[in-house]
Amino acid sequence: MQIKTLAAKALFVLAAAASVDALAQGPIVIKFSHVVAPDTPKGRAAERFKELAEQMTGGQVKVEVYPNSQLYKDREELEALQLGAVQMLAPSLAKFSPLGVRDFEAFDLPYIFPDRAALYKVTEGRIGRNLLRKLEPKGITGLAFWHNGFKIMSANQPLTSPKDFEGLRMRIQASKVLDAQMRALGAQPLALAFSEAAPALRDGVVAGTENTPSNMYTQRMHETQSHLTLSNHGYLGYAVIVNKKFWDGLPADTRNTLARAMREATLYEKKIAQRANDDAIEAIRQAGTTTIHTLTPAQQAEWRRAMQPVYGQMESRIGKETVRAILREVGR
Ligand code: LMR
Repeated sequence: MQIKTLAAKALFVLAAAASVDALAQGPIVIKFSHVVAPDTPKGRAAERFKELAEQMTGGQVKVEVYPNSQLYKDREELEALQLGAVQMLAPSLAKFSPLGVRDFEAFDLPYIFPDRAALYKVTEGRIGRNLLRKLEPKGITGLAFWHNGFKIMSANQPLTSPKDFEGLRMRIQASKVLDAQMRALGAQPLALAFSEAAPALRDGVVAGTENTPSNMYTQRMHETQSHLTLSNHGYLGYAVIVNKKFWDGLPADTRNTLARAMREATLYEKKIAQRANDDAIEAIRQAGTTTIHTLTPAQQAEWRRAMQPVYGQMESRIGKETVRAILREVGR
């Protein structure tokens, strides 16, 4: 009897110590690292997630957002996530192949999505869920797709025909599909981390680039690029990912609350992305530094023809099933 009472007392003391310990340990910290400016669709959505997560968990979770490659550059941030040095990222879909998952490069195929509605069918449906699931064996859990938008091209000369790209050194994200796309146009692609892109344009290491308007404007790329073409020839978007061990180790109710915060942040991101790009084009126009070209239907057809071979060249690298499933889903 006495032994039982002693054991119960000991248990009580241990439990009390554990909860004091939990308090002393403070909140659960999520380090969310990304490479773009705070005032971009991804930057703003990361802040939104922080607000929602902290408020919904009553401060039990603290989200620290590190923008502008402050902590890590493109490639490093994926390693940092796998090592658990950061818990959350939202890399562009062009940057997943170093993890050994090449399917995400399907999003880089030229003109793959006729419009945003077709894109959402993929990211919000079965294909999107299957893609995120492919990250699990890599120690990563995919939480959501976030969007940026369709890309434009820039250089210090007009780019209206594929001929204009001949021999131009163009900065790309590190994706083999983007490499093939630039080569199909006759350009010389150079893969650089995002943090190196604007300096490379400024210093003449590359002659031009492709990106979304919001990325170009917030990096002040227009200040060193005198021409841009509203080509919308490809898509740039993100997957929000977490370290799986961290995510699975969270108390279930906290994990559910964070998933809810992520769903809300994702809706917010979807709402602001297009607008951010439209505003960026307008701001570049106002800045008066850059001539903005639009393509005639005949020119667009010429661009499409020039880039079409990329599908044949890259299909087996990306995975035939993934490419074909996407093409079917978008009705092509
Ligand atoms: C780039 O490297 O151009 C983009 O992936 C940057 C980003 O995260 O939007």
